Amino acid sequence: MANLNINIGKLHLKNPVLTASGTFGYGLEYADFMDLSKIGGIFVKGTTLNPREGNDYPRMAETPSGMLNAVGLQNKGVDYFINYIYPDIKDIETNMMVNASGSTIEDYVACAEKINTLEKIPAIELNISCPNVKQGGMAFGTNCNSAAEVVKAVRKVYHKTLIVKLSPNVTDITEIAKAVEAEGADAVSLINTLLGMAIDVEKRKPVLSTITGGLSGPSVKPIALQMVYRTAKSVQIPVIGLGGISNWKDAVEFILAGATAIQIGTYNFIDPTVSVKVVDGINEYLDRHGFTSVQEIIGNFV
Ligand SMILES: Cc1cc2nc3c(=O)[nH]c(=O)nc-3n(C[C@H](O)[C@H](O)[C@H](O)COP(=O)(O)O)c2cc1C
Repeated sequence: MANLNINIGKLHLKNPVLTASGTFGYGLEYADFMDLSKIGGIFVKGTTLNPREGNDYPRMAETPSGMLNAVGLQNKGVDYFINYIYPDIKDIETNMMVNASGSTIEDYVACAEKINTLEKIPAIELNISCPNVKQGGMAFGTNCNSAAEVVKAVRKVYHKTLIVKLSPNVTDITEIAKAVEAEGADAVSLINTLLGMAIDVEKRKPVLSTITGGLSGPSVKPIALQMVYRTAKSVQIPVIGLGGISNWKDAVEFILAGATAIQIGTYNFIDPTVSVKVVDGINEYLDRHGFTSVQEIIGNFV
């Protein structure tokens, strides 16, 4: 068995396989299907300072090899999370991490400050890349200055591992990555969903209530992979790769492209046990190729 341990900032992962925010609930929803302690960590559902109802229905649609969503960060707010969800998830034997979003910098800061007090949450992932909310969200992540500003403000109040989730809906994602690295991000994760849309031709109406939404799933993988590859070459901090991963081979591709860890999102809806299969698959791959540690293959392709 190869060594699958990975460190990201102060965060220690038993293996590089994580589940992506918004696709794995709070973890417990999947406990009947798999042993949660087998994966490196879980990013819980997007959390905001105040409760959010999300967008009107319909807010999901299937696409060839993927899906469009416009959930719009529906959640009950950070205080509800702290009082009613955290007590139930804090003893899950893997890294439980919060994905936080906001409409203003003050929102992000207030949310991060509260999460910082939670002993069993070792990292926060700042979502500056949600395409499905009217205010804030992706707006912060599509401009170097605003991305830097939000990270700078959160860094002052958040003392554990700070991961910043980047939007692919930009001209050059490496510029945004460099901007957040300069303000103290411990890692970047990419990609969030790609802006997309669908029209029902019989009704001559958009399929999603919001008209546009976020595309995810296997169809986005080649785009995500090149963004991870270019970003890993541009920054010194670890890059967490995601977008369309559906099996161990996809995961190994991202790691070879330079990702220190990976996340699995949409594919959890198709196979709720995919993340454990990916851990096993990476292990077998490393053994088969004579590597003793996953670290040996990060960015290691010719
Ligand atoms: C239904 C749904 C909800 C999502 N909610 C969030 C969220 O709350 N916060 C976030 O940062 N990303 C969210 N995402 C984006 C995913 O975490 C991930 O970045 C994206 O789907 C690409 O990975 P995938 O192709 O493996 O799904 C969501 C995606 C889906 C499909």
